[in-house]
Amino acid sequence: MPGVKDRVVVVTGAGGGLGREYALLLARAGARVVVNDLGGARDGSGADTAMADQVVAEIEAEGGQAVANYDSVATAEGATAIVGTALDAFGAVHGVVNNAGILRDAAFHKMSDEDWEAVLRVHLFGGYHVTRAVWPHFREQGHGRVVMATSTSGLYGNFGQSNYGTAKAGLVGLMHTLAIEGRKYNVLANAVAPMAATRMTQDVAPAELLEKLPAEQVAPIVGYLLTDECTDSGTVVVAGGGKAYRVQLFQGEGVTFPSTPSIDEVAEAWPRLTDLTDAVPGVNPVG
Ligand code: NAI
Repeated sequence: MPGVKDRVVVVTGAGGGLGREYALLLARAGARVVVNDLGGARDGSGADTAMADQVVAEIEAEGGQAVANYDSVATAEGATAIVGTALDAFGAVHGVVNNAGILRDAAFHKMSDEDWEAVLRVHLFGGYHVTRAVWPHFREQGHGRVVMATSTSGLYGNFGQSNYGTAKAGLVGLMHTLAIEGRKYNVLANAVAPMAATRMTQDVAPAELLEKLPAEQVAPIVGYLLTDECTDSGTVVVAGGGKAYRVQLFQGEGVTFPSTPSIDEVAEAWPRLTDLTDAVPGVNPVG
């Protein structure tokens, strides 16, 4: 199968952790990779070229093709420059993995505006800006693959991660609309919620669990979603520790009120209204 051979894929935040594994695997499969990384600390402070350079050197040492980029995904200018690196080095862009991320955990009552905004800027605005920058190229060439890095914190919530979970859920929302708008141009958008031992998770999950979650095990899932053969769009997959499974919203049968109900009538109907016994995959009634 052609897979990702000769495709040009931008992996943001590819200087370490999961992004590095994605970049290495894609290059081994014959893709030409833009290794983007700002090179800062886990909380988003600082910047350095060494992380991206190191991964490019690793790829080149294995005989693969890669180019480094050090711009931040968090601004439109940075995103344009990232895509510019792909076009300058390889003349095209076919796929993007919106993987760059930072962490600034705090319980909601202690969340500062600055920490709220910094996390949304990198994850959600970053995913938006970089995808916005590749989108015209994808549409024009009738081919494109978008993978969003989401998180179980975005899908289900997690203590101390209101900023991060909001950003990660937002990326799923963006992905769903991109899947709808991109389909007729063969532009597919999907999301992966990884679980892996990286600097991001080193002190937020127990060591015994992290031991079972090597980052490299997530990479083939992301790799598949970038292939020519992939036809899925709008799919969310949780992946880690050698396991991967789909997550999907379902809707219950619900109740139909013959006329506008009173609050008491809603209370009476509530058990049936919230029952999921015969639930089916959810659809947008106005879609
Ligand atoms: P990581 O901290 O090792 O990797 C994130 C990378 O993004 C870093 O190399 C960092 O320098 C880069 N980065 C940060 N801000 C940037 C910016 N503005 N522009 C460009 N690059 C920037 O963490 P990890 O675990 O590899 O995370 C990768 C992605 O997977 C993140 O989006 C994270 O939220 C997501 N994720 C990871 C999970 C895990 O179990 N490790 C769980 C759920 C989601």
